[in-house]
Amino acid sequence: MKAFVHEYGELKVKDMEEPSPGEGQVVVAIKAAGLNRRDLYIPNRRGENKEALILGSDGAGVIEAIGSGVQNVQAGDEVIINPGLRWFENSDAPPAEFDILGMPDNGTFAEKIVISCEQVEHKPSHLSWEEAGVLALSALTGYRALFTKGQIKEGETVFIPGAGSGVSTYLISFAKNVGARVIVTSRSEEKLKKAKSLGADIALLDSEDWVKQLEEEKVDLVIDSVGRATFKRSLDVLKKGGRMVVFGATTEDTIDFDLRSFFYGQYQLIGSTMGSRQELRALLDHIKNFKMHPVVDKSFTLEDMQNAFDYIEVNKQFGKIAITF
Ligand SMILES: NC(=O)c1ccc[n+]([C@@H]2O[C@H](COP(=O)([O-])OP(=O)(O)OC[C@H]3O[C@@H](n4cnc5c(N)ncnc54)[C@H](OP(=O)(O)O)[C@@H]3O)[C@@H](O)[C@H]2O)c1
Repeated sequence: MKAFVHEYGELKVKDMEEPSPGEGQVVVAIKAAGLNRRDLYIPNRRGENKEALILGSDGAGVIEAIGSGVQNVQAGDEVIINPGLRWFENSDAPPAEFDILGMPDNGTFAEKIVISCEQVEHKPSHLSWEEAGVLALSALTGYRALFTKGQIKEGETVFIPGAGSGVSTYLISFAKNVGARVIVTSRSEEKLKKAKSLGADIALLDSEDWVKQLEEEKVDLVIDSVGRATFKRSLDVLKKGGRMVVFGATTEDTIDFDLRSFFYGQYQLIGSTMGSRQELRALLDHIKNFKMHPVVDKSFTLEDMQNAFDYIEVNKQFGKIAITF
């Protein structure tokens, strides 16, 4: 089968052995996979001396074969792969055995994947393959950040810098679905227009003076995954005593900030990462109830993967990038 791998420092399409299911495992024939910024970081993290690893965390497809003892699905079922490995029940932080699919385990950028039957969920029927394939990692991260950690409530205001990011597009829809007010920022006018059509109430350019523009607003919650480029400015628009959730740092991990104004402001800074299977199931119910559709910006094939990587590298995307099989 064809797969997109990282091998001895190189990214390439390679013929790999077809997987077969062991006890408690299923083989899924992938129909669509989703690209995440994480996939771009993996070559650096692995270095030059590693054997072939199939990249990819997100995917959806059809169960092709099941191993002994599998009861929750059968051959022919349409499923979404849960990339959060071995984190089943809600908890304050993931268990020690938690990993994200696609490193160190072989991932979804392949015609087939073998995986534990505990890592698949039935696909909502209103989603296309592309929409289902790009769903899990970003939507789950957004769901936990907004609801479990951010505790957003109807009538509250959430501020999200980097409107076009994969996770942000889910955040906008989730927040609007529960009656929250949404303020977004972007460096691109085009992305701001799209964010507004997705439901954002206020859309500001990255270059604007956010504090001045939002003088009349009361921001209850900030969700920032851009990192160094926006962190301090995002904190500046948060109301005193407000909550800020961070799950990513696209533009560098380290920042300096003023502790004194932080504690006088009595702000709450909360870390988050992906989510449990319990949260994924709640998320799938949310998507079904609100007939939500993930925003798929563009689709690529396995052979065209380098262009997909380049597209995300320069932040052209609004929403998610799909890889179709
Ligand atoms: N911890 C976890 O479990 C987890 C899960 C998912 C993602 N993440 C991390 O969270 C981050 C977001 O992920 P994603 O997939 O949603 O991101 P993405 O689709 O790659 O989008 C990144 C966004 O960052 C903004 N941005 C980039 N450089 C910027 C700059 N210099 N100034 C202002 N804005 C800038 C861009 O906004 P505009 O182009 O609109 O300006 C872009 O929309 C990534 O770092 C990712 O690795 C972590």
